[in-house]
Amino acid sequence: ATDQTEPNNGTDLPDYPGARSSRCPFDPPPVQAGWRRANGLTQVRLSNGRIAWAITRYDDVKQLLGDPRLSADGHRYPQLMETQQHGQPQAFPRMDDPEHSRIRRTLTGEFTVKRVEAMRPHIRSLVDRFLEEMIAAGSPADLVRAYALPIPSLVISMLLGVPYDDHTFFQTRSATLMRKGTPQEERKAASGELFGYLLELVKRKEREPGDDLISRLITERVVTGELTHHDVAMNSMVILHAGHETTANMIALGTLALLENPEQAARIRQTDDPEVVATAVEELLRYLTIAQDMLVRVATEDIIVGDHLVREGEMLVSGLPSANRDGVFETADALDLDRDARGHVAFGHGVHQCLGQSLARVELQEALPALLRRLPDLRLAVPLEEVRFRDDMVVYGVHELPVAW
Ligand code: HEM
Repeated sequence: ATDQTEPNNGTDLPDYPGARSSRCPFDPPPVQAGWRRANGLTQVRLSNGRIAWAITRYDDVKQLLGDPRLSADGHRYPQLMETQQHGQPQAFPRMDDPEHSRIRRTLTGEFTVKRVEAMRPHIRSLVDRFLEEMIAAGSPADLVRAYALPIPSLVISMLLGVPYDDHTFFQTRSATLMRKGTPQEERKAASGELFGYLLELVKRKEREPGDDLISRLITERVVTGELTHHDVAMNSMVILHAGHETTANMIALGTLALLENPEQAARIRQTDDPEVVATAVEELLRYLTIAQDMLVRVATEDIIVGDHLVREGEMLVSGLPSANRDGVFETADALDLDRDARGHVAFGHGVHQCLGQSLARVELQEALPALLRRLPDLRLAVPLEEVRFRDDMVVYGVHELPVAW
């Protein structure tokens, strides 16, 4: 395949995703609103130096993410890969159909609304547990470490059958992979260690299967020859990695957005209607759109988008945060928990749309209201300007969230 996206001296191009505004850290980088209004597609330089077309309009994002002429195949287009790893199979998010859907289908049954709803009581009891532990340890606390990270991390560990006692190991490796600009060697080491750990676990579960996703993949898919042990380890790695950092950042950033918009927080505090909470969570997902810098693709042939010609071999990056602030949503820059935000693209669009979205929704629907109701005077313990936002990470959010009550 041709690679027309080599890092070159495209220094005259704007950087993607661009700097956030210090006035409203929840808004996408203001420069993206400019691109959206002016150009639709804009050529940018990615954080790894490569050149890509930034897609910033809602309609363009939906159209292009649904277009089979865009490839996510990291084997065919190594420029899509942050890490080249020997001895590991390709991860299915970096494959195209039909191979992508062949692997993805072995997992979808685990993440249906029905399966996830069955987990809700358990998720609720975890939420209560971490909440009471945080309160017992006393105010102030770092909400990320005490609440936002452990909940999804424990949920995904239990679902997979990964011992939660190893959480420091997998959380630190995951964070290394999520940090932009992590040196290649460090990235390879983190990815290799995670993969090795999961491959060992897969072998252990083959000998002693339990009631968990990894064991089910072995007993239902490996024995039939559909998946290899390496495939199971890789699928587990993808889920472990995608399943805790994302939700954790939505819990923490969502809490901060609610603390900064107290009249909106009151909507959640004062209701016990799950529909109202579900609507509010959709709006938070839209408003915050934390997947700020990860949706890259390559055009497999020349594609015309509006006035632009995207040539075969050129890269594209989907600006989901910008797309979710497009005019298809009325007063799109306002957080309005009563609005019907369905149709947002916070989970992406098309064949790679988030596999874990039902699980993420239930976790957010449980974690956010419980926190607000249990601690009516919850507040930020430092000035907003002192909060460290995750501009340096693939997934936006906060590094820490000091709170008091
Ligand atoms: C894919 C966002 C939670 C697993 C994606 C994509 C987005 C996204 C935008 C599309 C990537 C692309 O098209 O290149 C989020 C957000 C979450 C969340 C905002 C939390 C609020 C989860 C959870 C899981 C998960 C809890 C756990 C299973 C995945 C997987 C993919 C994916 C496996 C790749 C799907 C594929 O390529 O077919 N997610 N995600 N995500 N997500 Fe999530």
